[in-house]
Amino acid sequence: MNSLPSSNQLPEWMKKNKDKKTCITTAEGINVTGATSSITVGEHGPIVLYDWNLLERLAHFNRERIPERVVHAKGSAAFGYFECTNDITQYTTSKVFEKIGKKTPVALRFSRVAGSLGAADTDRDPRGFAIKFYTEEGIWDLVGNNTPIFFIRDPIFFPSFIHSQKPNPVTNLREWNQFWDFISLRHESVHQVMFLFSDRGIPKSYRNMHGYGSHTFSFVDKDRKLIYCKFHIKTDQGIENLSPSEATRIAGEDPNYYGRDLYDSIENKNFPSWTFYIQLMTAEEAEIKDFDPFDITKVWPHKDNPLMKVGKLVLNRNPSNYFAEVEQLAFSPSNITPGIWISPDRLLQGRLFSYADTHRHRLGINFAQIPVNSPFKANNYQRDGLATIDNQGGAPNYYPNSFKGPMECPANYPAPLQVTGEVGHYDTGNTEDNYKQANVFYNKVLDDAAKDRLENNLVSTIKNVTCEKVKANVLQLFTLVDPTLGNNIKEKLRQASK
Ligand code: NDP
Ligand code: HEM
Repeated sequence: MNSLPSSNQLPEWMKKNKDKKTCITTAEGINVTGATSSITVGEHGPIVLYDWNLLERLAHFNRERIPERVVHAKGSAAFGYFECTNDITQYTTSKVFEKIGKKTPVALRFSRVAGSLGAADTDRDPRGFAIKFYTEEGIWDLVGNNTPIFFIRDPIFFPSFIHSQKPNPVTNLREWNQFWDFISLRHESVHQVMFLFSDRGIPKSYRNMHGYGSHTFSFVDKDRKLIYCKFHIKTDQGIENLSPSEATRIAGEDPNYYGRDLYDSIENKNFPSWTFYIQLMTAEEAEIKDFDPFDITKVWPHKDNPLMKVGKLVLNRNPSNYFAEVEQLAFSPSNITPGIWISPDRLLQGRLFSYADTHRHRLGINFAQIPVNSPFKANNYQRDGLATIDNQGGAPNYYPNSFKGPMECPANYPAPLQVTGEVGHYDTGNTEDNYKQANVFYNKVLDDAAKDRLENNLVSTIKNVTCEKVKANVLQLFTLVDPTLGNNIKEKLRQASK
């Protein structure tokens, strides 16, 4: 017998439940008789309408599917804890970092971005790394990726960017013309594109990749003073990647390869862990930087803002039910607890709207009442709506009131921020430096063999571009990053077309 826990879930369940006898019931708990046949008129006659057990079964089945996430549809999750290992109370009042040794329960959902629900785990794609901290001050969601940067810096592009990654609307197939067209017209994407096509674009497993908060966030201290921060979550299992050919083979053999790996390693008590680091930058330093520290297409170089270790993240429990605890898991960057705050990062500001909005569509208006999303009792003035579980009893449902309804309590958010400027559209496409960090990545981070693999990976998809104008734009983009990179891609494309 296959010894992997993921292959033995049912036998294991039976072992634990062997002494229990459970009767089939309707959803309302009434025992069901005749579970193996519909009610019919005689042996060969039609089914009768009063067979509500049959009707309930069919009707419930018809409604089993909910919309998949519009992005990051394919994923796996597990539960565990974050442990604070270093004192950063001078920067933040967050309960998560309250004292050394403090443990906060977490859920962590890994995902891939463009693939739909049935997609193979091992395709080249960025990976989601979304952490839900169940703090005593409410939910803090750090909804990051396995890259410290992103493709765009203005949320206006998000729908178009995603459309360019998803199937062509006519053929319903992956379309390299549309992918490379968007990328080559928005040069801020090139840094992230180079990460994506480097070795780390196909991790060996979810356990073998880093996570990043990616955006610039803020910490708020006890005097409501703010310091900007970034979050880096580095794998303790070590970075390991798959070669494109291994990834393709695995995609055919086991499209759920990452999910199986995560489940089995946790069932086998080989608990994956990550070390949590922060980078800090004062508001004064942010003012004088030679790049925009709130631009998510850029990193903060380590030598200027070194990583500081702050904690450990451990996953030690698999979901007890995938649909209940993973498909219904709803993250939002707007879930941000006292002591932590947003920043002038515009992409982050766009995200503050998007997630709760899509949850209302995907899971319904009371999505926060699904236990995995919040174990806390809400005290507010929102009521009713589809699938209300806790409607807050007899508490007043309007505010202000004279009947001891919930009051506003001071929370530690930053002191008011001063901003000035003329309201208008500002396209940052060409006003920011899009190439410098991508050039550093190519020349200082990658060795010759890694550069060669990056170029080969890029060429393996650019060669599928059939529109010559798009191809020319792509070559121009990589030439702007580094003329050698541009030339190498051009030469490899020539070889590939022979
Ligand atoms: P360093 O020169 O101090 O370190 C290089 C960084 O690159 C390390 O964090 C390393 O991660 C990471 N790295 C190595 N290979 C890859 C890859 N294939 N894909 C993505 N990341 C990789 O970094 P600097 O801060 O001086 O920045 C230099 C360049 O490194 C940047 O322009 C950026 O492109 C890249 N980088 C920077 C990061 C940052 O937050 N500063 C984070 C990741 C990349 P590891 O330590 O795990 O080996
Ligand atoms: C999922 C929007 C940028 C990481 C999603 C979802 C939406 C969305 C609508 C689906 C959520 C759901 O159905 O549960 C956006 C928009 C962005 C943006 C509008 C930019 C304006 C980013 C960035 C990151 C990121 C920059 C990472 C740094 C994720 C992750 C998920 C996700 C990890 C999956 C969450 C989960 O596991 O359920 N995004 N996104 N997104 N996004 Fe974004």
